[in-house]
Amino acid sequence: MNQKIFIKTFGCQMNEYDSNRIYDSVKKIGYEKTEKYEEANCYLLNTCHIRDKAKEKVYSEIGRVKKIFRSKKKPLVIIAGCVAQAENQEMLKREPYIDLVIGPQAYHKINDTIFNYIKKNKKIEETEFDAVSKFKYLSKIKNEAGKVSSFLTIQEGCDKFCNFCVVPYTRGPEYSRPLNQILDEAKYLADNGAREIVLLGQNVNAYDNEGYRLSDLILNIEKISEIKRVRYTTSHPKDMTQDLIEVYKTSKKLMPLVHLPVQSGSNKILNSMNRKHTIEEYLNTFDILKEINPKIEFSSDFIIGYPGEEDKDFKDTFNLIERVKFINSYSFIFSPRPGTVAENLDLIEKKICIERLEKIQNILFENQIRMNNSLKGKIIDVLVENLTYDKSKAFGRSEYMTSVIFNGKKNDIGKIVQVRIKDSNRNTLFGEVITNSDQKVA
Ligand code: SAM
Ligand code: SF4
Ligand code: F3S
Repeated sequence: MNQKIFIKTFGCQMNEYDSNRIYDSVKKIGYEKTEKYEEANCYLLNTCHIRDKAKEKVYSEIGRVKKIFRSKKKPLVIIAGCVAQAENQEMLKREPYIDLVIGPQAYHKINDTIFNYIKKNKKIEETEFDAVSKFKYLSKIKNEAGKVSSFLTIQEGCDKFCNFCVVPYTRGPEYSRPLNQILDEAKYLADNGAREIVLLGQNVNAYDNEGYRLSDLILNIEKISEIKRVRYTTSHPKDMTQDLIEVYKTSKKLMPLVHLPVQSGSNKILNSMNRKHTIEEYLNTFDILKEINPKIEFSSDFIIGYPGEEDKDFKDTFNLIERVKFINSYSFIFSPRPGTVAENLDLIEKKICIERLEKIQNILFENQIRMNNSLKGKIIDVLVENLTYDKSKAFGRSEYMTSVIFNGKKNDIGKIVQVRIKDSNRNTLFGEVITNSDQKVA
């Protein structure tokens, strides 16, 4: 087969990782990636179900594809990801243009599913949870992402069942990949150009395989000499265990940015969300980490307007932000999700939610701008990821994941260089390269 596949990805980093791994798999049966819709004879949409309109977004995307291919041969249309898992058979019934529906724990079956469809013209839905077989299969095919900063999924699924969230239903129960399988993948990525590994999981710090924890993984991965930086996301406050905290004392390569979603600053709301942690516990982790290394900064996710959120709860969230000074965060208005406990709770008036979101975002953005401004005139370490689109400058990231644009060259890619920051805006730092240090200074 010599076929072209167009892959479009919505959602989180895990979906991005999955899309790359799906491509690693379908390459084996002759598919080559294309960035142009109209060239494709296979169109794969990797979907996200986290907030409202997710389903409708998928159907309107299919509408677009239909239009593009109106006067051409119809491509094979595959829906993958969390909407595929949640909607399964329904998608094939509602939209005949869709040929295959495949859930996030069934990607090891994708090549067979495609073959079956081509041979027997049989529309198939594969949505069993079988993470063990999936990762066994994926570990046999190489991860060809080869990016300076590469994602590596170590854990999938969630057993926490926060009342607002679809993930336990779309990704299934928690599963942690074996340590050696992960280390082999990390080494392969390093051999192929990765200099930063971002360990991924819906609950990455709940990682537990035969007694090995996330802390063991971090310490093992940083032994790979080509790897200069290690990050992990997304973690749950309840799983910030002592061993993981200790790693911040000993690790040479773990970056000083902790993404630790809190969702709300009010214990009442955390309790009604079934978050399983309090603000006091959260702040305790914050204080301990700051004491270990004052350079450590925090980022978070917030849900605004969760049912029952009163002015005083909202103020608690506001106060928490002032206290922690998160340097980079995501905030969303609560969106009721099908099948979750919070689906039918009484919603807070839209206008109030929008006002609160605006206030929260203003203060979060102020923190971000203040942090970036504070770096003006300073020299920071930047891991160079690529050249800018017009190739006139280089693009990299600070230890805090902030984008940095500077006068780098192609041969800086994959190295850590020192950049003097001259200017900044909310999302980006601008500077001039000082010298190549190629080592971590954190
Ligand atoms: N496991 C992570 C944790 O415990 O924080 C979160 C993973 S979830 C994929 C990413 C973020 O989406 C959450 O932190 C939450 O802020 C947001 N989110 C999830 N469900 C939501 C909902 N129903 N409405 C609004 N935001 C939601
Ligand atoms: Fe969703 Fe909660 Fe699980 Fe995070 S911990 S994935 S928010 S259910
Ligand atoms: Fe979305 Fe599924 Fe990720 S719902 S955020 S793609 S785990």
